[in-house]
Amino acid sequence: MEFSSRFVLLILLSTTAVVLAYTEESIETQDLLIRQVVPESSSSNQLDDLILNAEHHFSNFVKEFGKVYADIEEHAYRLKVFKKNLLRAKRHQKFDPSAVHGITKFSDLTPREFKRNYLGLRRKLDLPSDANQAPILPTKDLPTDFDWRDHGAVTGVKNQGTCGSCWSFSATGALEGANFLATGKLVSLSEQQLVDCDHVVRNRSFLICDAESPSSCDAGCGGGLMTSAFEYTLKAGGLEKEEDYPYTGKDRGPCKFDKTKIAASVSNFSVVSLDEEQIAANLVQHGPLAVGINAAWMQTYIGGVSCPYICTHRLNHGVLLVGYGSAGHAPLRMKDVPYWIIKNSWGESWGEKGYYKICRGHNACGVDSMVSSVAAIHTTPAKP
Ligand SMILES: *[C@@H]1O[C@H](CO)[C@@H](O)[C@H](O)[C@H]1NC(C)=O
Ligand SMILES: *[C@@H]1O[C@H](CO)[C@@H](O)[C@H](O)[C@H]1NC(C)=O
Repeated sequence: MEFSSRFVLLILLSTTAVVLAYTEESIETQDLLIRQVVPESSSSNQLDDLILNAEHHFSNFVKEFGKVYADIEEHAYRLKVFKKNLLRAKRHQKFDPSAVHGITKFSDLTPREFKRNYLGLRRKLDLPSDANQAPILPTKDLPTDFDWRDHGAVTGVKNQGTCGSCWSFSATGALEGANFLATGKLVSLSEQQLVDCDHVVRNRSFLICDAESPSSCDAGCGGGLMTSAFEYTLKAGGLEKEEDYPYTGKDRGPCKFDKTKIAASVSNFSVVSLDEEQIAANLVQHGPLAVGINAAWMQTYIGGVSCPYICTHRLNHGVLLVGYGSAGHAPLRMKDVPYWIIKNSWGESWGEKGYYKICRGHNACGVDSMVSSVAAIHTTPAKP
């Protein structure tokens, strides 16, 4: 019964999912369909309470996240958006029952504002010329569960603020891990250096970017690509430490890169194939990987394994893949779901202490489609 209804659901959805990108409208029209086959979960009932008492929960939300609105109109408008987002969270809960969706610090933002200010992956940029194709690795003896946090290769969760610089955090995260593997030291690296200085990329036909036209390539808060950031770092010589070139979340400043303060350098970087076993093998062998993802479901995400029935593969957010697990809780699936463990850059107050879990096995939200690994240069400690 459980299986057959899910099967029907999948058939129904897969026919529509290929034609429709994820939009609020497309979810709306399929809602009716979904209601017939997906039973209400307890998280969904909790969301009903939130919706009934939206104003009360809005004032708690304003307090909890220290929100300040310019005037009464702004306050009223944000309450309206908040209510819409509660309905959206309820829909997300229904479509994504193995995760928990609800109020997050982004609950007063429209999906458009959220996308503009907190994502920032520019997938139109071409692959840099120095990118390698990752060689095929053996996958026979991969561990069933793996997490680079247990091996000291991951720095604390950072916060990109209101700036589309996700790509720089994904890139530093990968290089921090690679540098740890090469040197045995975990050093937090500078995103601001990438935001201020990384403006050289090519599109299909031209070298289009230079320091004078920062809006046409890896463009600070306007977005960028992790492979472009690796290319920049390779060419520039390396990245400074976070503390030497601290993050401001603004991209109007000049490049202040100081070559004498390089803390980690890129040896080479590679694009990993779309195969999940290869992604896991590269992760285990080379450290955390830079990945692109579609973030539509992340605005309302609170915890659990996100495994939405529909999610477009249109990538718009850069994050860091740090591990995987074999047995996530899945209330409706009657079995454990395997998942990827993802480090995000929205601070610890989002998701599971800043982390996101997304199911493995079918390129959910495009998580397998833009994966890159970086290798750091082995350094011998300088003699005093
Ligand atoms: C590459 O950039 C140049 C200069 O901005 C532009 O004229 C050209 O159309 C771009 N090509 C592609 C394929 O985007
Ligand atoms: C990348 O760099 C690492 C570390 O220096 C090296 O072991 C590896 O062979 C390099 N890979 C390629 C494809 O050049």
